[in-house]
Amino acid sequence: MGKATGKTAIITGGGTGLGRALTTLLAKEGYSVAVIARSEEPLRDVCAEVVEQGGRAFYRSCDITDAEALRVSVHELVGELDGRLDLMIINAGMIGFSKQERLPSEKMRQVLQTNIMGSVASLHAVIPQMAQQGFGQIVGISSLGAFFRWPVGGLSYYYTSKRCMSLLLGTYRRHLRVHGISVSIMHPGWIETAMVPKAESGKMSEYLDTPESAARKIMNGVEAKKDLIFPWPLFIQIQRRNLFLFFRTLLQKGLRMGKRSA
Ligand SMILES: NC(=O)c1ccc[n+]([C@@H]2O[C@H](COP(=O)([O-])OP(=O)(O)OC[C@H]3O[C@@H](n4cnc5c(N)ncnc54)[C@H](OP(=O)(O)O)[C@@H]3O)[C@@H](O)[C@H]2O)c1
Repeated sequence: MGKATGKTAIITGGGTGLGRALTTLLAKEGYSVAVIARSEEPLRDVCAEVVEQGGRAFYRSCDITDAEALRVSVHELVGELDGRLDLMIINAGMIGFSKQERLPSEKMRQVLQTNIMGSVASLHAVIPQMAQQGFGQIVGISSLGAFFRWPVGGLSYYYTSKRCMSLLLGTYRRHLRVHGISVSIMHPGWIETAMVPKAESGKMSEYLDTPESAARKIMNGVEAKKDLIFPWPLFIQIQRRNLFLFFRTLLQKGLRMGKRSA
């Protein structure tokens, strides 16, 4: 573990995947850390790892879609973190595939509820503490999927939820600046976690990042207080397709208008 810096961080979804990698990295950089998710075991496990290596770690088992329970958990954790909160990483999220993009199933409702309303609840759980301190940083883990401008088979709910999350965080950024709170939005591509197992990554496997390497890139963004997009080649592919579809739609509309006036 690195030398204690006196800085503190809460990471939602910090027991697994990218959240776990971020938690252990922050602890190595001298942060006291606190993690929140529903399943207790991974939380206990990552805290034990941090403590074993000489760091400080705390956890609360909580569903981020329950705004009141989250508020209480954050309040208690801030107490354990000596009443100070430097960084909140809104990382908890879920994915769900819906083959025919039918009316929202229970699973799709959960995707929207967790990724959108869970993120809003996470913001509101930390804003009072950070505003009172007069400083703080909020980092949202969105996704490159937020940039898709065409319906992506099976993942439309997930991508829509991430686009919404990015837009909301952008709006909050403007309002929170006056309180000394900065907001950064991270847009990672595919990362090999339980959410995207390598075996299921298909065509995207060439872009698959490890949680540790993605966490390192995100930490660079955290330190620079910047938004991040990675990997760039995948982002460029998405934007190229967005442009192609935009001009194709324009052309089709033009042709239709031409036919009508002929
Ligand atoms: N993997 C990728 O390719 C990828 C790419 C771009 C962005 N992301 C984003 O990165 C973040 C982390 O995902 P990951 O890939 O590391 O997957 P993961 O291992 O499945 O992590 C998701 C975490 O969120 C927690 N969580 C889910 N619903 C929750 C709820 N209602 N309340 C509290 N905690 C909840 C989960 O813990 P419990 O189930 O125990 O609650 C889990 O720890 C997500 O926001 C994801 O959208 C992932």
